[in-house]
Amino acid sequence: MPHVLVVGSGIAGLTCALKLAQAKPQWSITVVTKASADESNTKYAQGGVAAVWDYQKDSYDKHIADTLDAGDGLCNPEVVELVIKEGPERVREIIAWGADFDREDSGTYHLGREGGHSEDRVLHHKDLTGWELEKTLLEVIHNQPNITVLTHHFVLDLITQHHQGRIVTRHTSPITCFGAYLLDLTSGQIETVLANVTVLASGGAGQVYKSTTNPTIATGDGIAMVYRAKGQIANMEFVQFHPTSLYDPEASPSFLISEAVRGAGAELKTQSGEAFMLRYDSRGSLAPRDIVARAIDSEMKRRGEEFVYLDARHIPATELTNHFPSIYQTCATQGWDMTRDMIPVVPAAHYLCGGVEVDVMGRTTIDRLYACGECTCTGLHGANRLASNSLLEAMVYAHRIYEDILALDALPELANGIPDWNAAGTTEPKEMVLITQSLKELKEIMTSYVGIVRSNERLERALSRLRLLSAETEKLYHSTTISPQLCELRNLITIGYLVTKSASLRHESRGLHCTTDYPVHATWADDTIL
Ligand code: SIN
Repeated sequence: MPHVLVVGSGIAGLTCALKLAQAKPQWSITVVTKASADESNTKYAQGGVAAVWDYQKDSYDKHIADTLDAGDGLCNPEVVELVIKEGPERVREIIAWGADFDREDSGTYHLGREGGHSEDRVLHHKDLTGWELEKTLLEVIHNQPNITVLTHHFVLDLITQHHQGRIVTRHTSPITCFGAYLLDLTSGQIETVLANVTVLASGGAGQVYKSTTNPTIATGDGIAMVYRAKGQIANMEFVQFHPTSLYDPEASPSFLISEAVRGAGAELKTQSGEAFMLRYDSRGSLAPRDIVARAIDSEMKRRGEEFVYLDARHIPATELTNHFPSIYQTCATQGWDMTRDMIPVVPAAHYLCGGVEVDVMGRTTIDRLYACGECTCTGLHGANRLASNSLLEAMVYAHRIYEDILALDALPELANGIPDWNAAGTTEPKEMVLITQSLKELKEIMTSYVGIVRSNERLERALSRLRLLSAETEKLYHSTTISPQLCELRNLITIGYLVTKSASLRHESRGLHCTTDYPVHATWADDTIL
């Protein structure tokens, strides 16, 4: 029976798995996730799905222009057009599967506004859109007999010719993916799972920073695995910091205050109450995220303050409680009444625009390996993602991968002669502190030197410290029994290295990459391929 392995259970992985399973009941599809089935960045997406919906007011051209503008010259126009034009059909599909988006009293869908959008076009389920989509997909998948969701299994590595003892380099052609080695977190056993085709949908890597809106599982495992397997990775310097996470130095992850709150009229203010955003951009608090996050960072540094305020007090209380129940409630439990108090906010790492390079059908540079969702670089986001374009991208690419797999004359055969995982010579780790302290150091390095504003000196420092962390962690990895904590640390160090190296190769400021040594755009610009 043909077997497709899907790594990751966010919207990208689940959509692709479901489509393949429904079209090919005789195939077996395994979705593997290291946590519970619903734990993913998708679940925490508050804002919604940006899609052209009201054709009277909005148009593909407007959504395309907004996406290109946010992307600051680095989007692939072909990809932007295809995602935006195919997006609404993908949204209709998920609605048909049962997803519930908020409606106006008239029955039409309520369309929210977010930063960088020239029209209202964000479909949403209150401020819990990702949770609603994840729940919908899992419910349908639950009744799909040819899908197995393997929870609490950590993917250690993609299996390629390297595991057959062959030398694989970035120039070896072709590199082929035969499946993956999985660590069963319950039994501790390592399983060899072969697949005719593998789809990577393993999400983002916000955990490489101290402050992030991403859940603890967002450790860049898929990107790091592809890099180890010698696949191409691109645009890793473009880490999106969301301008408004709730200020709470103790919270991990940081709680997101959706951009939709600014879309509803909330304004950013300094601690002395000045609305400062118009000094930075004519779109004020609703400028694209790179501009807003940098403006907040600059105000905080100039004033020596640890947060700015988000003022939503003028928004009617019923609108706040109806549209943003979860944000309202979380703020209230921290002692902030949004109808009466300004909310303290700070930028936090939120989304990775770079990742595994894929073509327009979601094919990576490794044969038999596709990728979709946040772990990829498709060319849609360029140097800065437009708000709420990511769930759209995930659904469009999941569909394209499904189409590409279905169009194959025949699925490639399962590989023979793949050895089991070799754990010879390893012993139980003696001190967890070797892992936990390195993780703290990594987050400090990335936050201090490779954050919202960078410089050559900061990046050089980061690289030399990352090399040391990497050397120590590799030694530990090769001498101790595999644990998820150690694998995540190793993957995050790879992510840190890729972000820092890509940043040091870009000699200009563009989109999310801002460096004091090259404050302006270069006249040329291209993707950074690693
Ligand atoms: C938000 O609700 O502000 C986040 C949406 C997104 O990251 O696209």
